[in-house]
Amino acid sequence: MDSILVRLRFFTHQNVPGIVIPLGLCQKLQLEPRQQVTISLGKRAVSAIVFQDRKNPEGNVIRMTSTLRKELSVPHPGLIHLKQEGDVLRIGPAIGILTTGLRYDSRRPIGMRTSFFRDLLQAQKGRGVYYYIFSPDDIDWTRNLVNAWFLRPTREGEYVWRNITAPLPDVVYDRVPSRTAEKQDKVRFVKEKLENEINLPIFNSGFFNKWGVHKLLYPLDEVNEFIPETHNYASLENLRRMMRKYRMVYLKPKNGSLGIGILKVMRTADHSYEVSYHTSSGNIKRTFNSAQTLYQRIFRSRKPSAYLVQQGINLHTYHGRPFDFRVHLHKNQENNWVVSCMAAKVAGSGSVTTHVRTGGTVIPGSDLLQSIFGNRRNLIEERISSAAVRIAAAIEEAMGIPLGELGLDMGIDKHGHVWMFEANSKPGRSIFKHSRLKKADEFSRNLLVDYSCYLANF
Ligand SMILES: Nc1ncnc2c1ncn2[C@@H]1O[C@H](COP(=O)(O)OP(=O)(O)O)[C@@H](O)[C@H]1O
Ligand SMILES: [Mg+2]
Repeated sequence: MDSILVRLRFFTHQNVPGIVIPLGLCQKLQLEPRQQVTISLGKRAVSAIVFQDRKNPEGNVIRMTSTLRKELSVPHPGLIHLKQEGDVLRIGPAIGILTTGLRYDSRRPIGMRTSFFRDLLQAQKGRGVYYYIFSPDDIDWTRNLVNAWFLRPTREGEYVWRNITAPLPDVVYDRVPSRTAEKQDKVRFVKEKLENEINLPIFNSGFFNKWGVHKLLYPLDEVNEFIPETHNYASLENLRRMMRKYRMVYLKPKNGSLGIGILKVMRTADHSYEVSYHTSSGNIKRTFNSAQTLYQRIFRSRKPSAYLVQQGINLHTYHGRPFDFRVHLHKNQENNWVVSCMAAKVAGSGSVTTHVRTGGTVIPGSDLLQSIFGNRRNLIEERISSAAVRIAAAIEEAMGIPLGELGLDMGIDKHGHVWMFEANSKPGRSIFKHSRLKKADEFSRNLLVDYSCYLANF
């Protein structure tokens, strides 16, 4: 049966765990008056007595006694879904975002990241879901409860953070903030237990590393053309070999992000080698007369085993500066990949990457493509998004874990060929700060709810 959107209210009635359901709905669900039924919310289930509401037989208001509300730990009244599954009446879905660094401060419960999560939770508006944030410290395993943070509207139409006890959710969106946090015992323990013991789907679990993704994708015919040649270890031999093959090579830390540690090596016209990278004091460029001297200098302070050697792509330029794209993808409620946003990132002057941190600028992808390609814009846009969808599907299939979201760093070269540099399982949302990407921002946040509903089977 499909789920039904209802409006949930509470009332006090002796000490009975009861639920009042409009007559029409009772008939649809084949519920007899005074029948005992199991009501579940997230990972909690309680037995309750059904009462028929004959005064408003066609209404969509469901009323729960306060006793039932308490036993089930229903977080708040309002729009929510009802779904019959066998003998159980499910209320929900309950969608939990798992992160760390929560603190008891109703102004900023997630510190610096509070506004990031506030934006995500705003997508609950009118959707009929319970949507909340919790950390590994907040779980009561004996009662399947979590002490969670909700964003609730006030009478004045503002939104405030509220700390409310709720059931363990139906589905978890993993937003553990960093690889360091991910390694903590308590995080590992909680994820393992949720997934394997409680049988709770977690999507976007963990972080990707660049070599891991490369290894999965490079052998696949359907995506191989988008993946630059890459070697796992930055040995002198690998660098030499790649420099013979390509005029430009990128050296990238396998677990890197934000462009930190990335080096670009170029073979110049006079057979010397030039390395460029970004440091706290700006962009640096140095020239060496052999690959060996360059190598010795670079890896004096870096671990070759932590680096990849990658074919450099001669990116298309905009006003003389290389650009690439952040393609933000989601799974929708039908479990299909869709592109929610394509933002172009134009490199800062002299920078080897396109990050805003190193002077890059964000422009809506279609605007930039329009000004470069004119009426060929749609063709190029379609080429990038269809490549992105193929890559996303391939990653999900190869990893064998549920993914609801991906941030792909993709470029086009001077010939219009599409390339993918990196897949992020915890994509940032800074592109959405752009004033012309607000619709995409909203679309993206809504898709997170859609996919959660899909995984929760609502
Ligand atoms: N092989 C490459 N050729 C050309 N440019 C690259 C290459 N690899 C990375 N870049 C540039 O550097 C940026 C950062 O690389 P990426 O692999 O995404 O690392 P990070 O994890 O630091 O973001 C890319 O968005 C792109 O602009
Ligand atoms: Mg990147």
